[in-house]
Amino acid sequence: MSHQVALAFEDGITRFIKVGANETVADASYKARINIPLDCRDGACGTCKAFCESGKYDGGDYIEEALTDDEAEAGYCLPCQMVPESDLVLQIPTTSDVAKTSAASFESTLSEIRRISETTYAFSLEVDKREDLSFLPGQYVNIEVPGSGGQTRSYSFSSGPEVDIVSFLIRITDGGLMSTYMRDTAQVGDRITFTGPMGSFFLREPKRQSLLLAGGTGLAPLLAILEKLAGMDNPHPVHLIYGVNTDIDLVELDVLQDYTQRIAGFSFDTVVGDPDSASQKKGYVTNHFEPQHLAEGDVDIYLCGPPPMVEGVRRHLEAEGLKPQNFYYEKFALAVVPDAEPAAPAAEAPAAQAAADQGYEIGEEFTVTNDAFHEFLFKAVGNEHLLQAYRRLDVPALMAAVLRQEHWIDGAVDADHLGIVAAFEKQDIAAARAAITAHNQHAKATMAAASKAAAQ
Ligand code: FES
Repeated sequence: MSHQVALAFEDGITRFIKVGANETVADASYKARINIPLDCRDGACGTCKAFCESGKYDGGDYIEEALTDDEAEAGYCLPCQMVPESDLVLQIPTTSDVAKTSAASFESTLSEIRRISETTYAFSLEVDKREDLSFLPGQYVNIEVPGSGGQTRSYSFSSGPEVDIVSFLIRITDGGLMSTYMRDTAQVGDRITFTGPMGSFFLREPKRQSLLLAGGTGLAPLLAILEKLAGMDNPHPVHLIYGVNTDIDLVELDVLQDYTQRIAGFSFDTVVGDPDSASQKKGYVTNHFEPQHLAEGDVDIYLCGPPPMVEGVRRHLEAEGLKPQNFYYEKFALAVVPDAEPAAPAAEAPAAQAAADQGYEIGEEFTVTNDAFHEFLFKAVGNEHLLQAYRRLDVPALMAAVLRQEHWIDGAVDADHLGIVAAFEKQDIAAARAAITAHNQHAKATMAAASKAAAQ
């Protein structure tokens, strides 16, 4: 019997492979032409070490130098030795570029457009070769906006992985590329291309109670998670707090109500930021945390919302001295690119989002870390002259000047940095070259957007 194994790469791209009975993950990856890191293939070097997020497996034979008992206990594993005993999700410590793979591309047909509130639409796609599309509940895809010359926007699945027709939510914003298409020109039957799945925001094996937090249409990936939970035997309570700006932003309440019947131990609250709301619960989602939702930290938190909401929740937990067992989040900011969707709600806006173009928010912290990373490369090779020459170039000053005001970076930049450092540490020149080449593309896209925004 074969099992499905999700290989989640550091740059957010996930590839799924089938692993046969008695087959190792490394052998199945090789057959699928995915070059996960490997060296000895014998459980001796530790090069292939990965982290298992969920599932059962036989770890195989290996020596302590390759994988310690403590590491194995914590969930680390050796794909060159491990044989799955169930479906697995593995975090592979390299980028998809380095593994010589990329996100898969899918063709589909727009099968439904539903206006579910004054501000929000739901749309569904019938995917060609649906059997080839696997994703983890919570992940997203990049959808090419028809008629836009190939521009893409990111949307999280609101449907579960086993549902035939895949669905998404979109908040309609004036001037938004996808918003304009959905509202003004989309027709059932339109052909739509997308790539993915992507993202490390997905449901892990429930080992304790969960608190799900949604901001605006950040509800979508949590609906996918709930759909998955509805098909599982999960003995732990699940509570959702769903925050929006105004009453008209609340959607899919009947669906949530239905999950209270389909998932044992599921409950939810809605919170509206608008002080004039008819809602019982107003303000921020954090105003409505009850002690039982947080279980003194013995809880897994899943949050999808705009950056201010993520920061608000993080600050609240810190102030309360609460450290959840796991805190998974999808933070989306809007891409500052030509014809991008309008900006996200202002910094201290209550839990809500405009249309979701996932990316990272850039700020002081990123800029400083980015500088430190580039200097590390020069320091690592021990060439002081090269470092001084780099400092005299215009590039570092330009990055410092334009990135601080920017709101978007290519999502792969962070993972590139880690991939380059890993390649340096292993003294793997080929991997370093591949990682740096990939990073160039991502860095150029980021700087082009930042320079353009700064010039306006
Ligand atoms: Fe050496 Fe797996 S490749 S331990």
